[in-house]
Amino acid sequence: MRHQKVLVLDFGGQYNQLIARRVRDLGVYCDLLSCDMSAEKIKEYAPVGIVFTGGPNSVYGDGAPRVSPEVLSLGIPVLGICYGAQLIAHTLGGKVAHAKTSEYGKREFLFVKENPLSEGIPQKSVCWMSHTDLVAEVPAGFETLATTESCPVALFGNAEKRIYGVQFHPEVAHTEYGNLILRNFLYNVCGAKGDWTMKNFVEEQVALLREKIGKKRALCAMSGGVDSAVAAALVHRAVGDRLTCVFVDHGLHRKNEAEEVMSVFKDGLGMNLVKADAAEEFLDALTGVTDPEQKRHIIGDLFIRTFEKEAKKIGAVDFLVQGTIYPDVIESGKGKSAVIKSHHNVGGLPDVVDFKEIVEPLRDLFKDEVRKVGAELGLPEHVVWRQPCPGPALAIRIMGEVTREKLETLREADAIFREEIAKAGLEREIWQYFAVITDSKTVGVQGDFRTYENVIALRAVTSVDAMTADWARIPFGVLERVSNRITNEVKHANRVVYDITSKPPATIEWE
Ligand code: XMP
Repeated sequence: MRHQKVLVLDFGGQYNQLIARRVRDLGVYCDLLSCDMSAEKIKEYAPVGIVFTGGPNSVYGDGAPRVSPEVLSLGIPVLGICYGAQLIAHTLGGKVAHAKTSEYGKREFLFVKENPLSEGIPQKSVCWMSHTDLVAEVPAGFETLATTESCPVALFGNAEKRIYGVQFHPEVAHTEYGNLILRNFLYNVCGAKGDWTMKNFVEEQVALLREKIGKKRALCAMSGGVDSAVAAALVHRAVGDRLTCVFVDHGLHRKNEAEEVMSVFKDGLGMNLVKADAAEEFLDALTGVTDPEQKRHIIGDLFIRTFEKEAKKIGAVDFLVQGTIYPDVIESGKGKSAVIKSHHNVGGLPDVVDFKEIVEPLRDLFKDEVRKVGAELGLPEHVVWRQPCPGPALAIRIMGEVTREKLETLREADAIFREEIAKAGLEREIWQYFAVITDSKTVGVQGDFRTYENVIALRAVTSVDAMTADWARIPFGVLERVSNRITNEVKHANRVVYDITSKPPATIEWE
């Protein structure tokens, strides 16, 4: 890669991915790698700067992650955050103390000396603290640069060594000038040039993909989701018709989704995109099935078999393109993503396609970067900002057996919900929003008639990574409009309820 790199060493804190995203957002490429990386490996990696993240440990605890003093004498600038700052102090002979009580929340902090990190920041501002231990004495040669009332050393550093430690969290939005502190570290201390832009990324990847794929052929399964769409568009930009994409229409997509995929990618971008019409097969296979896991397995298996049939028609290819993104890479390293990925519907593809190598052009990108690349490639906004949808799609939003009638009712109700959320301008604030059709029937009165229909539930959550989520506080007026429209416009709908459960204890999906 031609761009500069920063190394974010992961000490296990909850904001670590956020730190990496902030650094990237400031125009500097970074990798989030394990804190046990040796000084030798770090030298090879050749970063322009290193960030030590926070973490749950105390530097005095058994098994607390350490860093070799060598890392701090490589001459590479270092910024330690929270635990990272304590570790710098501890490693270089300063003192870390246990505070009597933990400090958590917003605090006023005061610069006591101008320094490269304070440029453009008022002397007093607000920061976000979350810690128990604190730096009580800075190492020899270092000086205290900022304090708070309860934390004598909120920021310390050594300008000559270009090493700094900050007790609070510059990466969270509650720290008023947090972004500027990170920016100052990157640009004033590390000499960053800001060469990480999505325009550069596209140019670089297109050149690399052209070189790699050349005159050979590639195949990609498109799900309609953002990641596979952007991966396919990028490879298409590089090699055009040498890429064939297959879209499996399992008949369980949301309203108009299958048509949109074909119109954007085949008609719009001119991609070589094949649609496998398998709706009838999927619906037949689901007849009589009520168990959610069984539904997932049936859909997953049939998806792979359908794809395999299409792949056979295409014949041997050299490359299989997949939309793996950076959080998948980091999380699979830690085994954290097991819950989400175990039911991922494209997991079995490499086994049934005759190919030589997997190509994952987005594996270095965070989701927000993937969206920017999509925009850079000219994909329409509704594709770039599409909310995540599970592989089994509406099948796991229909409680009990999937029937054509329930599918039709759900599709219409869901479309109304999506339309009203868009009209209210809430699309980007809400992580996922969808309708569910329950297996419970309730009585209603519509016109002069008694009705007896399945309850429709609305689910909308805010989240950053789907691991935890909160129910979205949608204004009552919007909910009212959605409920009115669903009961008036959708056949077989006489009652609408709103799910007000967070995750945990509930999951985002109902099945
Ligand atoms: P839960 O319901 O476990 O969902 O809170 C977490 C995230 O994963 C999505 N999800 C799935 N994705 N196949 C998928 O590809 C599935 O079977 C599946 N089930 C849940 C869900 O939409 C949410 O974003």
